Amino acid sequence: MDVSFDFSGKNVFVVGGTSGINLGIAEAFAAAGARMGVASRKQDKVDGAVAALSGDAGPALGYAFDVRDADAVAAALEDFAQQCGPIDVLVSGAAGNFPAFAKDLSPNGFKSVMDIDLLGTFHVMRAAYRHMKKPGGSLINISAPQAVQAMPMQVHVCAAKAGVEMVTKCLAIEWGHEGLRVNGVTPGPIDGTEGMARLAPTEGMRKAVINSVPMKRYGTPEDVALACLFLGSEAARYVSGSIINADGGWAISGARIDLALQAGGS
Ligand code: NAP
Ligand code: COA
Repeated sequence: MDVSFDFSGKNVFVVGGTSGINLGIAEAFAAAGARMGVASRKQDKVDGAVAALSGDAGPALGYAFDVRDADAVAAALEDFAQQCGPIDVLVSGAAGNFPAFAKDLSPNGFKSVMDIDLLGTFHVMRAAYRHMKKPGGSLINISAPQAVQAMPMQVHVCAAKAGVEMVTKCLAIEWGHEGLRVNGVTPGPIDGTEGMARLAPTEGMRKAVINSVPMKRYGTPEDVALACLFLGSEAARYVSGSIINADGGWAISGARIDLALQAGGS
């Protein structure tokens, strides 16, 4: 990365940071010198991330929990703060997604995504609040173009991520006077991720997605990490309640994925 940020002496925790975009974000903070905490459901993924994120700042700390379990989230963040000190940057990015037409989506399917993305974000924000460095802490929620762009086969994700953006803005208002900043980052279509494997699994869909991005390329986890480094840094000291699109202009141009092609099998 030819942009440099210095997070030495800082504590950074990435929820859902064991694969894909969020792991890329965690790796960027670790490379910038931060002491890292990381969490997701699966112990083997947590162990892999801990190994990747340990470095000069000390061993990374890993936690296996489900964001739908508020008590488990709270216990992990408490343990991290006890061992490392107040949290400087908290990134919340655990999410679930699958394409499904509303008529075929069971109430529990809708609820699962709402519980992971929206309620889970609230659990993480609420638990992190008491352990954030005040003043100076930065909380970052990972959103998606679906928050502002209606898409077929994504009613559950659109509803959940729209909620995530409102949680972000409400907490920016409630916590600003304590010197906390709360922002969101919206990734575009990011190459090699679970999310895009689920939404654009064929070469034809992949090409159509690239064509719909104004910058005419897929993004990388590093593209998203750079926005998070900015929001976590002093450079963003007066930025709060903002949602930054790291998406090549995709969300504002309609973020088109012809998900119906999946149903047609093209
Ligand atoms: P991913 O690799 O599947 O990342 C999701 C992470 O969250 C994993 O670490 C996963 O690990 C964890 N996780 C999932 N459910 C969880 C739960 N209930 N409790 C705790 N952890 C949980 O997916 P990705 O595609 O990189 O997406 C990462 C983020 O970017 C998501 O917030 C997504 O909405 C957003 N986003 C992605 C794209 C894209 O192009 N991929 C575009 C826009 C936005 P475990 O399986 O171990 O739990
Ligand atoms: N189409 C329609 N419904 C689906 C589905 C699909 N592809 N996948 C799951 N569901 C439904 C299930 O049928 C179930 O509803 P039911 O009880 O009425 O049958 C409900 O969703 C919950 O499924 P379950 O597998 O028990 O959920 P889980 O909590 O184990 O997993 C998911 C959550 C479904 C979101 C799973 O895809 C996941 O863990 N995703 C994380 C990784 C990911 O999505 N990464 C991309 C991030 S953008």
